[in-house]
Amino acid sequence: KADDGYRLWLRYELVNNSTLLSNYRNAVTSVYLPGTSPSLLAAKDELQMGLEGLLGKKVSFQNTLANAQLVVGTPASSSQIAALPLSNQLSKAGDEGFVIVSTTRSQKKIIAIAANTDIGVLYGVFHFLRLMQTQQNIQHLAVTSAPKTKYRLIDHWDNLNRTVERGYAGFSIWNWHTLPRYIDQRYIDYARANASIGINGVVVTNVNANALILTKEYLEKVAALANVFRPYGIKIYLTGRFSAPIEIGKLKTADPLNAEVRQWWKNKIDEIYTNIPDFGGFLIKANSEGQPGPQDYKRTHADGANMFAEALAPHKGIVMWRAFVYSNESPEDRLKQAYAEFKPLDGKFNNNVAIQVKNGPLDFQPREPFSPLFGAMPKTPLFIEYQLTQEYLGFSTHLVFMAPLFKEVLNADTYEKGKGSTVAKVLDGSLDGQALTGMAGVANIGNDINWTGHPFGQANWYTLGRLAWDHQLSSAQIANEWVRQTFGNSKPLVDTVEKMMLSSREAMVNYMTPLGLHHIMGYGHHYGPAPWFDKASRADWNPVYFHKADSIGIGFDRTANGTNYLSQYAPEVRKQFEDINTCPEEYLLWFHHVSWKHTMKSGRNLWEELCYRYYAGVDSVRVMQKEWNSLEKLVDKQRFNQVKMLLAVQEKEAVWWRNSCLLYFQTFSKMPIPPSYEKPDQT
Ligand code: GCU
Repeated sequence: KADDGYRLWLRYELVNNSTLLSNYRNAVTSVYLPGTSPSLLAAKDELQMGLEGLLGKKVSFQNTLANAQLVVGTPASSSQIAALPLSNQLSKAGDEGFVIVSTTRSQKKIIAIAANTDIGVLYGVFHFLRLMQTQQNIQHLAVTSAPKTKYRLIDHWDNLNRTVERGYAGFSIWNWHTLPRYIDQRYIDYARANASIGINGVVVTNVNANALILTKEYLEKVAALANVFRPYGIKIYLTGRFSAPIEIGKLKTADPLNAEVRQWWKNKIDEIYTNIPDFGGFLIKANSEGQPGPQDYKRTHADGANMFAEALAPHKGIVMWRAFVYSNESPEDRLKQAYAEFKPLDGKFNNNVAIQVKNGPLDFQPREPFSPLFGAMPKTPLFIEYQLTQEYLGFSTHLVFMAPLFKEVLNADTYEKGKGSTVAKVLDGSLDGQALTGMAGVANIGNDINWTGHPFGQANWYTLGRLAWDHQLSSAQIANEWVRQTFGNSKPLVDTVEKMMLSSREAMVNYMTPLGLHHIMGYGHHYGPAPWFDKASRADWNPVYFHKADSIGIGFDRTANGTNYLSQYAPEVRKQFEDINTCPEEYLLWFHHVSWKHTMKSGRNLWEELCYRYYAGVDSVRVMQKEWNSLEKLVDKQRFNQVKMLLAVQEKEAVWWRNSCLLYFQTFSKMPIPPSYEKPDQT
């Protein structure tokens, strides 16, 4: 059967296990879900669609409690929910969480999906449907779930002309031309998908912002989107162009301490709230890569952020101020600049400002150490920014499941307050007692039929939502859930796809940037290898700046003998990395300039190890191809062929990466590729 992938993980196919199907049918064919609020109606629609698909039969929604097997609501929307002894669990569920329990009513077994708020009910319904889509036993349910971060966001880098910066899945899904009056069904399906994984905020515009989005005409369009998203618990955020007061406000300056400028933003923000009463706030990129910002007026990031914060505070809006800053005027290691600018401002931001920090100190590489800002700003809420769109990871032609990358950062120990001070604890607020907590992913979504171009790109969107809700979920759990919902529940299928997914990130690191290499992708577009490139318009955009290969060795010395970037970490972290003999090898060339002859843990020298890794990377892609081919009978034809073709592209490009990097680095190492690696290539 053909499948275009549009339904994402919300497919609701008939349960293909007859025992389970009859259990499910016995358990939930009549539902009591009273209430008429938009979120409860959305929950009801979803439940109806989901159950009818999964059970293959009509589900009756009762007007009364009698005979209902599934009872859904809040203590306010349903007296039955109020009567159940759930107060203990509900107190743990908070504003957005939910409780799903098997219980009894008048001696009859029922299942209750309960929450304190209507949006919690919707999340509970999605969770319940997920249990059935992944074929779990629903006979003894006792789930209490609440999100670990408060702001769970998808950031679109979508321009107003519908191009998407670093977007590889078509054009923007926002059709500004037909908004506000034409509501594409896609907006609703987008909101459903996000709500199903707990995403509660969307930044709809590019960080390289266009001030036009703040004009009256566009705000009406944004308001129409906000109306679609509201029932799904999703707030809209915009990117704020710092120079907007000049560009659309006719002022002479955008100085954040100028009274007129402050008034202009206050009026603008008030205007936004009259259109969108629950507007979430702004994401701001300032004084970064040529964007305007407070430093243009010799003011600090705090001066800039607090200007917005003050105007947003009465409306409960927030500012997400990005820490992705660097300039080529400074001779410093580019990696040191964010910490240098932000660390001194710790404690200087208003309490509705969060600093949004990319996971690593550079820029969304296949592997980076965690950003040293995590653990360094205890008085400031920090959000993490991941990139779902695969700017440096082979665009949407390479299969890379990013949960292991995300988890590696979450589990990293900052040692801010001794051992166990993980990035996850910084983010969920538990380490420093922060109330403003958040996780964001730069969208990989476009108007391609299947949303993300590569069918497996959907898994990264899914992962972001699931980890923002619960950072303790493992990569394997997330892969398992996603495969079951997206492709099906048969064991060989689930086992094989899960295995492919879990190995894919390390495969990519090996064939692109093994042993801590970074930023050696093609100049500007960042696709394919170009470690030789040295003609960029600024030095710190040149791959040669990052790998520093010479006749002695390769790698960037960031120890005290080099740029001393390592000094930005806690002493315990520094210690792990600063000794060339104990530094984990996956970060070796990130922190050290290492001799080609250096002996590695495997006993090979560095050059041989580099060869070994590049060859291993290609081999892993070939293993993935074989694994996928074994699934031909278990996956629908269309998606099977798509993935098969994409894996063939990935294999070819892995070879391209391996061969060109090794040939280039060989001009420095002057050593042969170990003959045993030189197997004939299969294409
Ligand atoms: C990367 C990317 C840019 C983007 C920037 C950012 O450098 O290449 O396109 O604007 O990140 O995150 O601001």
